[in-house]
Amino acid sequence: MSTTATLATLSDSNLAADPNWWRQASVYQIYPRSFSDSNGDGLGDIKGITAKVPYLKELGIDAVWLSPFYPSALADGGYDVDDYRDVDPKLGTLEDFAEMSAALHQAGIKLIADIVPNHSSDRHEWFKEALAAPKGSAARERYIFRDGLGKNGELPPSDWDSVFGGPAWERITEPDGTPGQWYLHIFAKEQPDLNWANREIRDDFLKTLRFWSDRGVDGFRVDVAHALTKDLTEPLLSKAELTEANTGTDGFPDGSHPFWDRDEVHEIYAEWREVFNEYNPPRTAVAEAWVHATRRARYASPQGLGQAFNFDLLQADFDAEEFQEIITRNLAEAKATGASSTWVFSNHDVVRHATRYGLPMGGGVHAKGQDGKGWLLAGAPAEELDTELGLRRARAASLLMLALPGSAYLYQGEELGLQEVGEIPDAERQDPAFFRNKGVEIGRDGCRVPLPWATEGASFGFGAGDAHLPQPEWFSRYAVDAQDGVEGSTLELYRKALKLRRELQTAEELEWVETGNSQVLQFSRHGGWQSVTNFGAEPVELPAGEVLLSSGPLAAGKLPGNTTAWLR
Ligand code: NOJ
Repeated sequence: MSTTATLATLSDSNLAADPNWWRQASVYQIYPRSFSDSNGDGLGDIKGITAKVPYLKELGIDAVWLSPFYPSALADGGYDVDDYRDVDPKLGTLEDFAEMSAALHQAGIKLIADIVPNHSSDRHEWFKEALAAPKGSAARERYIFRDGLGKNGELPPSDWDSVFGGPAWERITEPDGTPGQWYLHIFAKEQPDLNWANREIRDDFLKTLRFWSDRGVDGFRVDVAHALTKDLTEPLLSKAELTEANTGTDGFPDGSHPFWDRDEVHEIYAEWREVFNEYNPPRTAVAEAWVHATRRARYASPQGLGQAFNFDLLQADFDAEEFQEIITRNLAEAKATGASSTWVFSNHDVVRHATRYGLPMGGGVHAKGQDGKGWLLAGAPAEELDTELGLRRARAASLLMLALPGSAYLYQGEELGLQEVGEIPDAERQDPAFFRNKGVEIGRDGCRVPLPWATEGASFGFGAGDAHLPQPEWFSRYAVDAQDGVEGSTLELYRKALKLRRELQTAEELEWVETGNSQVLQFSRHGGWQSVTNFGAEPVELPAGEVLLSSGPLAAGKLPGNTTAWLR
């Protein structure tokens, strides 16, 4: 029997084949290059993850979501994939992957792989072929090539900007050395967009889904799930026309944007669903789709991907009213469509919530600093950052989230209360968002700094060498070994919360309890599990009941400000 078959059988027979395991799972995101480095080259790797499976088991999570681990030149942190069916040699081998998958499964942890279908990297075999082939060839048809405008095609086909700043079109040099066609890249220029109107692309991704499913992958996180299909009928709309047609909320409400959230994209996911359902239990998927709120449900449909990220809490300020509105609306939406809700405060793209909540502008991820700079930290002078308040609120928010019906997505390091690293020297930054915006956007490196496992030693226990992004001295305070077994530490809070959540989790419903205080949110789940959060600064009376856990110390029957308690 091949390794693959053995693994697939193992994962199917040893785990409860519950087709609904994902609905209320706690999912821990690993950014592999910054998690744990087994060979001292400064880059986290697959063996590093395998070595930490006991840690993950003790943490009490249900699944790991692994950010891209494929061969990549890292033009965008691995979201520039050279080969969809291999492991980056810098991170390990397919055998290492099989070992990791088996170890996770043995520990009762499911594995979700990130898949990046909108674009490949410019080092993918397909793109190399496209560059070597003539205009109009089948190789070019795998991507989106267009002639330029202007007398000699010297102008891009449209004035669109890429997400990371700068133009969304890049001109190539033709095989004969002359300036040639342009290709579309919604993200970095090293990430050419694939042409999903091409059947070959669709079939190849079905093959990739099976490839990883056969290797024990239980589910997929789908990168920019809303961008795959495009209407590039000419003349292309201008930037100004697109801005005018936008309603000002996330995405277009009617699917009319040329590349974001078009209706046809769901035909692709209906095909993916058929592949997912070939497996037992069916493979799962969660869409990363920054779309208009009214259109998110389509991605989460049981005939499609089944779940879609809801970034509403991540964009909200630390505010009781905002939280309640978001939670109520999302639970109602999920109920109406049969999906389960998803919740997330932090990931590899945003400033960590322990830092956001300590910034003067409230905590919503889209807030801009005083000088208009994005990604938050750029505009927030260090002296205005209150890390203690940020952590208090982050712990309160996370405890609230872990009591909600649906899946909770956690980002590596949040269980340590880790803060964003603001002090990365420009020369050491890696994020294309920083470079393409010429430093106006500070970029996302600050949440991707390798984890501190130990108070002392090389790279705080991340590995034997220097970490690929510089870790600040203050990381030692947040190290795993500084928190392990320490009553009241953030790590112990997460461990207890995750364990209790498993025991208490019931039907995907909650009931709000009237508190008579607009800054206090309280809800109950079936079986009497209650969560109460004081978003204000002043202590309030604790509701009656046995206190199971609290995000901070309680005093004399009171719930202090910026604190959550669970009761029964
Ligand atoms: C979303 C990913 O989360 C982000 O990290 C990446 O840069 C873009 N998609 C492009 O793949």
